Amino acid sequence: MEAAWQPMGYTSPNLAVYPWMWLWDSCFHALVWAELDDERALTELESIFTFQTPDGFVPHMGYQRDPDAAIEFWGRSGASRISQPPMYAHAARVLAERGYALGDRLIEQIGRGLEFFWRFRMDSAGLVRTVHPWESGADDSPRWDAWAGVPFDASRFEAIKQDMVRQLQVNEFGSAVDSPLFSVASAMFNGIVAFNAAELGRLTGDRRWTERAETLATAIDRQWDATARSWVDAGNHESAAVRTSDAYLPVLVLPERAGAVWAELTDPAGFDAPFGPRNVDRRYPGYRSLTYWRGGTWPQINYLLAVGLASVPEARARIARHTVAGAWASDFSEYWDPDTGRGGGARPQSWTTLALVMSSWVGES
Ligand code: GLC
Repeated sequence: MEAAWQPMGYTSPNLAVYPWMWLWDSCFHALVWAELDDERALTELESIFTFQTPDGFVPHMGYQRDPDAAIEFWGRSGASRISQPPMYAHAARVLAERGYALGDRLIEQIGRGLEFFWRFRMDSAGLVRTVHPWESGADDSPRWDAWAGVPFDASRFEAIKQDMVRQLQVNEFGSAVDSPLFSVASAMFNGIVAFNAAELGRLTGDRRWTERAETLATAIDRQWDATARSWVDAGNHESAAVRTSDAYLPVLVLPERAGAVWAELTDPAGFDAPFGPRNVDRRYPGYRSLTYWRGGTWPQINYLLAVGLASVPEARARIARHTVAGAWASDFSEYWDPDTGRGGGARPQSWTTLALVMSSWVGES
């Protein structure tokens, strides 16, 4: 974390592969800095809003190291035009609990950031749409294979995703509000948005956020599919057919499903593994343990599953144990093989230090 810290006030996810600022990574980094009782927790949380626009939109990437680095790609300097899972309200609630003094400005920025999704991304079923696969944070998930094509080919899908950027529909502030190519209300993204609305309600005591979280949770639960034994994405049937661990994140706001979710995550035929849970059900023909987002274990997903399953005795401790073991075995890789702990992707990856936060849960049962 120390080595990856940038003087502009954020932690690079990885110095070589991911030098820029990424929205949800920085939220997780703030949690880690807070665990270390370091002032940079607050600095990093504040940095996330550097490029917030007047409509509330928070870009998924900040290029403060070199503002014009991707100007041609995004058509603007400084930041991207798509967003990412808005984990900042959770980070803020945890920091406040640990005694950090959050200013009014930050709380207001967080509220406007979440508000963007209600104003510009709500569909008729009351679910939040994402307009690009990158917005999910799960870039190459098999849930997007309807767009990527089967068999999956990473470079072909990369070209498709770049075209999706070119075709984004943006509002007057340059924020993506729609897409003719991709419009998906994913279970994962909606679970995270609802959870962060609930966290903002907890932090501020503002009932409107608590109510929004509850209403969104009710809409998400209509997407519970008894055959898939999972929540499924709205707006696309192909994505619904692939079971992923991140699709269980609505458990963050639907604790009544925790028992059912835990039964799935501990089923060795599907998700369970010594360094798991797997991100993709191993029975899926395209399951690949060490291909980016195609099956390996991701520490930030595990962190959120553990938080969401706090009501199940053993769940939080077991997920924490597997995650700490995976982080250690993989030398703090971005993700790892759920069976062997062998690392994949960038190494070291800053968010894998969430294992430090989770290590205090290991002994709980
Ligand atoms: C990759 C991941 C994304 C993450 C970024 C930086 O693009 O898919 O979720 O935010 O790397 O770590």
